[in-house]
Amino acid sequence: MDPIELHVNGEVVEVTDVRPTTTLLEYLRGPLGLPGTKEGCAEGDCGACTVVVIDPQAPGGPRFRGINSCLLLLPLLHGMHVLTVEALRDASAHDDSDGYHPVQRALVEALGSQCGYCTPGVIMSMFEACYRGDLDAPWKLDDQMCGNLCRCTGYRPIREATEQIAGLRPDDRFARALRTAAGQRPVSLRYRAGSQHFFCPGSVPELLDRLHEHPNARLVVGATDLGLDVTKKGEHFEVLVSLQAIEALRQLRHEDGRWSVGATVRLADLEDATGKALPPVARMLRFFGSRQIKNSATLGGNLCNASPIGDLAPVLLALSATVVAVGREGERRIPIDDFFVGYRKTALRTGEILARVEFDDPPAHARVVAYKVSKRREMDISAVAAGLRVDVRDGIVEDARLGFGGMAATPARARRAEAAMIGQPWSEATGEAAARCIAQDFRPLSDHRGSAWYRATVAANLLRGLYHDVQRERLPPLPDRPSGTLLGRGGETGTGAGGEASP
Ligand code: FES
Ligand code: FES
Repeated sequence: MDPIELHVNGEVVEVTDVRPTTTLLEYLRGPLGLPGTKEGCAEGDCGACTVVVIDPQAPGGPRFRGINSCLLLLPLLHGMHVLTVEALRDASAHDDSDGYHPVQRALVEALGSQCGYCTPGVIMSMFEACYRGDLDAPWKLDDQMCGNLCRCTGYRPIREATEQIAGLRPDDRFARALRTAAGQRPVSLRYRAGSQHFFCPGSVPELLDRLHEHPNARLVVGATDLGLDVTKKGEHFEVLVSLQAIEALRQLRHEDGRWSVGATVRLADLEDATGKALPPVARMLRFFGSRQIKNSATLGGNLCNASPIGDLAPVLLALSATVVAVGREGERRIPIDDFFVGYRKTALRTGEILARVEFDDPPAHARVVAYKVSKRREMDISAVAAGLRVDVRDGIVEDARLGFGGMAATPARARRAEAAMIGQPWSEATGEAAARCIAQDFRPLSDHRGSAWYRATVAANLLRGLYHDVQRERLPPLPDRPSGTLLGRGGETGTGAGGEASP
């Protein structure tokens, strides 16, 4: 058995004696004595626990990623570099800055901290922003910081401070650490503490062997879902198997109009890649979760937990995606229509994993849009999600694929509504005819996110709006509207240019 080995603030840390379900946050604040990182919710919602890791495998080269340390299990950090708020000040500096990092100075100067409980997490999200080179639109700053809640300062100073340092990219010791990480490969691991095992195999055959030996093992990569079972339900997990050291599962390709997205591709990377190239997917990912969650969560995790409200499934249903499973007998291609077989059940067989998902760019005659409807825009679970596609030739609907989440026990297509559209002129009346079929397609449940009536009404209204939404652009992106409501002195919005102030 191997020890877990990671770097924390530049120091090597070797772990041999803790449960593999120990979270990074527990280990930082406990054995490592680094209490700067705070615990708020312990469920990935507040961002108080944000730390930064170096991801050497990120597309385009190593990058810093802010992550929620309250959800990430310690063995998932094996071979990685972690930075906490304690690392930012350079105590040896004797200049005017007193060694404080530009993000720390910016937050102080903007008066962005009062009680300070959220501040270490805010600082670490700003730190990621400081070294990003792609924060080129106002909404991206909102997205960068939307996973950090602050209960007393108010968000304007925090956002102003973030605006000051976003993309600054100082050539400092942190930038050098990033350069040094180039070419680092993920490291495999076999760890055990008491009766609990944690395996991180380095290849698909090795992974399949582990699953053969331990058919009840749980798979884990980003732990944004499984971490909740640990922190909220106290789950024990005898055997955990991570896919994160298998480079073949992290490939993201877009060639000749065909996408191939590996199971462990992080959702932040998928959002970046699809931004302009495939707006329906990027549009769904925009409000999927916080930056920290999208930095950890994976495509495979979102599909394999088979939640009826998993946000990516509806848009993949609309895109007619294919799930590629791999097992000891080889690969199996499963149309996404057949992948969800029951409440939280997939068509994967014991010993099989989801290796990648493939789909085509929509052809020129297809119009596709994705919607997420939730009580809050950010950081919320869908009441209804939809991925809607119509193929229109010569003014007639040739095909329709209407995928919905939140309407049944699994993500599912609205087959009667589709039938009501196919062969009809592409018009508002056809959208209305499809909307009237929703009540026959689905009998949704009532829960605290929405009553059955609300869900059915929302789903029908999305079909009514579809015609209008795809008239000007066949793959409409989200408008870059500022999310804030504050007006500056000159009447401009407080959250940047690009749209009207919210009412
Ligand atoms: Fe709230 Fe981790 S403690 S996100
Ligand atoms: Fe108090 Fe943000 S400064 S919660």
